[in-house]
Amino acid sequence: MSLPRILVTEPIPTTVITYLEEFGNVTIGKKGEFNSEEHLIKELHKYDALLCMLSTPVSETVLKSASNLKVIANFAVGYNNIDTKAANKLNIKVANTPDVLTEACGDFAMALLMATTRSFFEAESYLRQGKFKGWEPLGFLGMELRGKTLGILGMGRIGQAFAKRAKAFGMNIIYYNRSEVSREIQEILDCKLVGNLEELARQSDVLSLNCPLTPDTYHIIDSNIFSIVPKHSILINISRGPVVDEEALAEALHSKEIAGAGLDVFENEPTVHPRLLNAPNCTMLPHIASATFETREAIGMLAAKAIKQVLSGTPDSKITNLVTS
Ligand code: GLV
Repeated sequence: MSLPRILVTEPIPTTVITYLEEFGNVTIGKKGEFNSEEHLIKELHKYDALLCMLSTPVSETVLKSASNLKVIANFAVGYNNIDTKAANKLNIKVANTPDVLTEACGDFAMALLMATTRSFFEAESYLRQGKFKGWEPLGFLGMELRGKTLGILGMGRIGQAFAKRAKAFGMNIIYYNRSEVSREIQEILDCKLVGNLEELARQSDVLSLNCPLTPDTYHIIDSNIFSIVPKHSILINISRGPVVDEEALAEALHSKEIAGAGLDVFENEPTVHPRLLNAPNCTMLPHIASATFETREAIGMLAAKAIKQVLSGTPDSKITNLVTS
């Protein structure tokens, strides 16, 4: 019997590929090769399983062309790149990678906040340019975190991981979410649910976006929110770019309606809004929150296991990371 054909859209850790090769015939795409619907439509009908990236546009049209596809495993926890409703209708299973990247993302959010409040990159570039001529009492002053309020939009796993770290830095935690977090988490974080996003914005010295991208959260952070947040506040976004109206963010930074932003995600990745590129106090990184050796391997293994489980007929209820649309 021939082995199932598995398409991995980009190179991923070799341990994961070795695992997939134990039960499948694996094809690995080149970096960026499958970032267009046209190419997916041309190729995907050849495969039984797809292990794709958050940049792979798995639309309804793509799915309809994939006549042999049984399972898609996204190499990410966020799966806004996949039309899960269409997949469901076509009986194609979808998996994501929750939990395994939570701690790496919590660490990264904290680092991004520190880098932004303390101007790490601006100061480093100042030094590299030979401008450091001696210790300066007024050089690169930034906001101290102790006693400040961190407002988290989307208090899921990653929001909580960030909040735990921020609490250790002496920050107060508030959040806005569809539902209240468990009593245990409330006690650990000593955090408070606020009634709406505007209230969260009003009270936050740091506003962090940790929600998934859905039709409800698209551009949820817009010029109205920037008019509400305190002028000294910092925005941190490690969720998805389109949660923020990037044009409005660039304007808010240039007009000093907010004091800074730390961004790991962008509205039209890999393109960055030109007015963000020259905005004051804006730390920008190329979507690397989960980029540790350990985590990227764990992401790959979780995705690969879901592929194996679906292809070998494991009941849905036994597969922990299937996404229901
Ligand atoms: C990364 O952004 C992810 O969703 O895993």
